[in-house]
Amino acid sequence: MLGSQGVRFVGVGGALPDGRLTNDHLAQLVDTNDEWIRTRTGMQQRALAGPEVTLTQLAVSAVRQALGAAGLEPSQIDLLVLATSTPDDLFGTASLVLAELGAPQAVGFDLTAACSGFVFGLVTASQFLATGAYRTAVVVGADMLSRWVDWTDRGTCILFGDGAGAVVLQAGDPGGLLGFALHNDGPQNSCLTLRFQPSPRPLVEDLTVGPGQFQPIAMQGQKVYQFAVRQVPEIIEKALFRAGCTQDQVDWLILHQANQRILDAVAERLGIPPERVVSTVAEHGNTSAASIPLALEHLAAAGRLQPGQVLALAGFGAGLTLGAAICRWG
Ligand code: COA
Repeated sequence: MLGSQGVRFVGVGGALPDGRLTNDHLAQLVDTNDEWIRTRTGMQQRALAGPEVTLTQLAVSAVRQALGAAGLEPSQIDLLVLATSTPDDLFGTASLVLAELGAPQAVGFDLTAACSGFVFGLVTASQFLATGAYRTAVVVGADMLSRWVDWTDRGTCILFGDGAGAVVLQAGDPGGLLGFALHNDGPQNSCLTLRFQPSPRPLVEDLTVGPGQFQPIAMQGQKVYQFAVRQVPEIIEKALFRAGCTQDQVDWLILHQANQRILDAVAERLGIPPERVVSTVAEHGNTSAASIPLALEHLAAAGRLQPGQVLALAGFGAGLTLGAAICRWG
């Protein structure tokens, strides 16, 4: 018998901006080519937002779709957790999302755990439902890393796309969050950064402050790759153990969509066959916190996400951070 934490998954939605950046487009920007990108990453194109598009708009669109799938109205949301590393406002974007949705009764906040953000957000929101504090929660993963990519760095600019995905959760039994495991690896932080750089400004005698700017994404690709291939299977195994499940019970493995080679290597280590691995890498690229809910939405849109199916979700990325959640859909 699978365990229960009193949280049901009742809807999923996704939103991509209109722009499409192909590998051939990237070859016009940096010294790369379609064959190299396909072979090393599996990516063919990414959706990119123009400067007129806000993260709030993408998030709202994903939430509306998820609410529609759940048959709920914005007025029924109690809690919204917005996982993002690319907010419209560093003070928080969840308030803007709730205002745009028309959900003044709800409480919301931003949560940052980079590409693990959706899993961290899912676990966070679930605690509020499991304690009975709230009845209906929305977890959004939304990112526009195109705002922070160094478009002259061929090692990173080929990877990232923009998007948003959302799931609606409700308190109730039987529960759908069967087990989870979260982890931080701070000592490896410098492998993947979007770091603030101060430009010291003397104010008055003996007092200098540090206004400044965030620097573009910087990454040591091979180190991140090794981290993912080594540690993602381990954290999924830990979450499966806590859920009282085995790999054989997993209907869908839905990893953060960083690289097709990472997806393949993790699935192989877990002994999960390719037909049970969801991939949107080719079409979406790496959409950071949005990639897992977008992959879920992709599965739902294809009519392949069925009530009762067991999902193994795992995010990993900057921080470094790692998180896995074993869920039963519906
Ligand atoms: N096009 C062509 N050549 C490229 C290139 C590109 N876009 N990017 C790098 N190269 C070159 C390198 O300069 C290097 O050349 P050299 O051998 O002459 O020095 C060569 O290709 C191999 O580079 P390397 O970094 O070893 O490639 P890789 O096989 O590790 O692939 C990544 C690079 C980024 C695709 C891969 O490391 C990766 O996916 N890492 C994980 C990144 C990730 O998922 N980040 C997000 C986590 S949330």
